[in-house]
Amino acid sequence: MNILVTGGAGFIGSSIADAYVRLGHDVVIVDNLSTGVLDNVPKGAPFYQMDIRDEGFVDVLYEHDIDIINHHAAQIDVRRSVEDPRYDLSVNVLGSLNVIEAGLRKNVRRIVFASSGGAGYGEQEYFPADEKHPIAPCSPYGITKVTVERYLHYYHVVQGLPYTVLRYTNVYGPRQNPHGEAGVVAIFADKLLGGAQPIINGDGLQTRDYVYIDDVVRANELVLDMEGSDVFNVSTNTETDVNVIFRILNEALGSPAEEKHGEAKAGEQQRSVCAYEKIQDRFGWKPAMSIEEGLRRTLTWFQDRMDED
Ligand SMILES: NC(=O)c1ccc[n+]([C@@H]2O[C@H](COP(=O)([O-])OP(=O)(O)OC[C@H]3O[C@@H](n4cnc5c(N)ncnc54)[C@H](O)[C@@H]3O)[C@@H](O)[C@H]2O)c1
Repeated sequence: MNILVTGGAGFIGSSIADAYVRLGHDVVIVDNLSTGVLDNVPKGAPFYQMDIRDEGFVDVLYEHDIDIINHHAAQIDVRRSVEDPRYDLSVNVLGSLNVIEAGLRKNVRRIVFASSGGAGYGEQEYFPADEKHPIAPCSPYGITKVTVERYLHYYHVVQGLPYTVLRYTNVYGPRQNPHGEAGVVAIFADKLLGGAQPIINGDGLQTRDYVYIDDVVRANELVLDMEGSDVFNVSTNTETDVNVIFRILNEALGSPAEEKHGEAKAGEQQRSVCAYEKIQDRFGWKPAMSIEEGLRRTLTWFQDRMDED
């Protein structure tokens, strides 16, 4: 198939693009390199340094006769969305609308959209959150992700455009950056490897659901041939607190740092965890990576990158 990956120079998009290339698909990348890097783009894949808000986006679809759009380009920084909600809205909603409308014009088979479980469900009413959990985003970023889901639903119902929404929890692994939803892993890894002291916000008991990049990639492979339109969590159903993340990383490096706590961050979500039964029932997907092994692999990647610099 001819697949266009937006955000394909970023952490998750480029890992998916690599996997699609390995499966024999023809992959095209659109990315404005605002947080992504050219090195991540699969060698030989046509690359357009382009903003998803650009009117010329639709031409790329025709040029490569695109069948599927895998839409990962986004403003991903929750804090930035709070400081500059208009920018977040512009990229995440208007940009996504441009992608969806272009897909509709080109009559693509499907749009796969990277949404967010943690940011969309907000403070959870029950644990773990399944896909029927109330949507109550507590950040402009969460609002824009949910809004795109609504547009996809609208274009599906009214215009017949098939979609798949994948609601990731906190994705971590090689190539991740400190701005994403699992940013704490990158921040601690960078500090520990650089000999600096990581500071845990508050008591460190705030939990997240950390899903490893390879598991996320596998979900993106499985949905390529799906029928109909649907929404799936991509998660582990397991809560891990920040202290545990610190301890696993620190122990993997021979415990060079003390466990130090600082001020709690005002308004920080306390618990977040999502159920994956729906995607398991439909595709047999379940997370394969343990948090210990996943963190070790991530640390090795940060270490190798530091050695190269
Ligand atoms: N990392 C997570 O934990 C997580 C969790 C839930 C959802 N997501 C979603 O997954 C997607 C990928 O996130 P990531 O963690 O790989 O982040 P990332 O920053 O590595 O990737 C985003 C990519 O989009 C590109 N981009 C940003 N604005 C653009 C624009 N206007 N036009 C074209 N390209 C643009 C960036 O250059 C970057 O390469 C995002 O949609 C994000 O919201 C990520």
